[in-house]
Amino acid sequence: MSRLDELRQRKSVKWRRFAEDVIPMHVAEMDFPLSPAIKNSLIEMIENDDLGYAYPLDELGQSFSSFSDRHWGFLPKSEMVFPVTDVGVAGVELLRALVPGGGRVLVNSPIYASFRKWISESKSQIIDAPLRLVENSWVLDLDQIEQRFKEGVDVYLLCSPHNPVGAAHSKEDLISIADLAERYSVTVLADEIHAPLTHSSARFIPFASVSEQAREVGITITSSSKSFNTAGVKGGLMSFESEALKNRAMEKLPMAVPYRTSILGIASMIASYAESDQWLGETVARIESNFKLLNTLLEDKPWVETYNQNATYLAWLNLEGLGIDNPASEILDKGRVSLVAGSDHSIDDKGYLRFARMNIGTYPEIIEQAIERINALAQTR
Ligand SMILES: Cc1ncc(COP(=O)(O)O)c(C=O)c1O
Repeated sequence: MSRLDELRQRKSVKWRRFAEDVIPMHVAEMDFPLSPAIKNSLIEMIENDDLGYAYPLDELGQSFSSFSDRHWGFLPKSEMVFPVTDVGVAGVELLRALVPGGGRVLVNSPIYASFRKWISESKSQIIDAPLRLVENSWVLDLDQIEQRFKEGVDVYLLCSPHNPVGAAHSKEDLISIADLAERYSVTVLADEIHAPLTHSSARFIPFASVSEQAREVGITITSSSKSFNTAGVKGGLMSFESEALKNRAMEKLPMAVPYRTSILGIASMIASYAESDQWLGETVARIESNFKLLNTLLEDKPWVETYNQNATYLAWLNLEGLGIDNPASEILDKGRVSLVAGSDHSIDDKGYLRFARMNIGTYPEIIEQAIERINALAQTR
């Protein structure tokens, strides 16, 4: 059986959403086998008939804190870590709690498509300070961020590292954001779900680690699910450093929120953070090598431009050279490869029309086949 045929046995959205002849490179799931520690932990729970309601276990905060300390040199307060169904639920529930009735929420486009949905679901208005392109890298635009803060922002939904451009933000930028947020009374919701997948060419800096101000204004929302590929078992966490901010959020948050986590989700987070470092190292190396392969395959292709990326397995592609709006749609219809449309990463469907996001968290031969298909399509234009 070919690798693709084997993967098609899976039941996740990646493998079931499109017809069987499509190479799926849309949703952010990887194709690699799970970490043995996660597998064992989930199997053990099933064998122990241990599938009751979740309890906010101390081990979650402890394993997350020590993972953060080991990898990034920052020890979050483990007693202020709370489980939540997933990072999406954390985002929506915290926005509802922080700005009841809705407010103004800042993002940096091009941005992970669901941020827009979280913001509308919580009845808030989306505000944009787009990223800037500097020497082929996408970076935060601090002047624009300050301008938006001046005009009025309640919450800044910071994607760090950034999906889809795979940017690990610099310490200097994060320090400036914390200063500005304090000055303009903005709460920073730092979504750090991609952090463990920062490449060896960069360093991930937790927002809460950068300054006292950051700890006062920031809430981290994250999960091991993206980096350790367990999105389906449902588990995320919220991590506070400021007692005052924790009280402000938790007072408004429905009491049931932590209990709505899956017991398997909590177990897989603990196994990821406590026992899967070796697997993670190997996975990041695979992703780095996939980026090298992708860049080599695309080097001489006039229809595409790539960028410097230093986190995640999501490649942000400029497909201007194909000369069509919404190339993802044509690539799906005629090339039989599913990408995420660039416009999904704008705040109103009007931006990034000629871009697309490609998931390369897969095997090299699948990347090669996908590029071959897209290149064949490009030749017909
Ligand atoms: C930045 C970011 N946040 C959140 C999520 C979704 O997380 P969850 O499945 O825990 O809701 C994703 C998924 O790709 C993501 O890229």
